[in-house]
Amino acid sequence: GAPIEVDLSPVAEGQDIKVFWRGKPIYISHRTKKQIDEARAVPVASLPDPQSDEARVKAGHDQWLVVIGICTHLGCIPIAHEGNYDGFFCPCHGSQYDSSGRIRQGPAPANLPVPPYQFVSDTKIQIG
Ligand code: FES
Repeated sequence: GAPIEVDLSPVAEGQDIKVFWRGKPIYISHRTKKQIDEARAVPVASLPDPQSDEARVKAGHDQWLVVIGICTHLGCIPIAHEGNYDGFFCPCHGSQYDSSGRIRQGPAPANLPVPPYQFVSDTKIQIG
């Protein structure tokens, strides 16, 4: 599949959009400062799939989280802005992901993957 470009300028702080890339749902979250602070406050070593928030976003664009919206348990599509961690909730078997898309609770074994992407301007990304 070809790369896609996504204009981020209509996405207000605290909102998420879903786009499709290679037939996969991609969530793009414009995170609030609270969501970023929460993601960075948790000790990385305590996480089931230890990854820092800094490693999951692009430096200088910390407010933007881009993840593949497919639960790493059995492949359901988690719901944004749901669950106990200000992130994503999978209704199939109750996996809870945080505001960095990292698994925090439930049967999923791994974080929501970050797809390959880059910023082509301050308000536009290319995925793929
Ligand atoms: Fe998401 Fe099972 S598929 S918790």
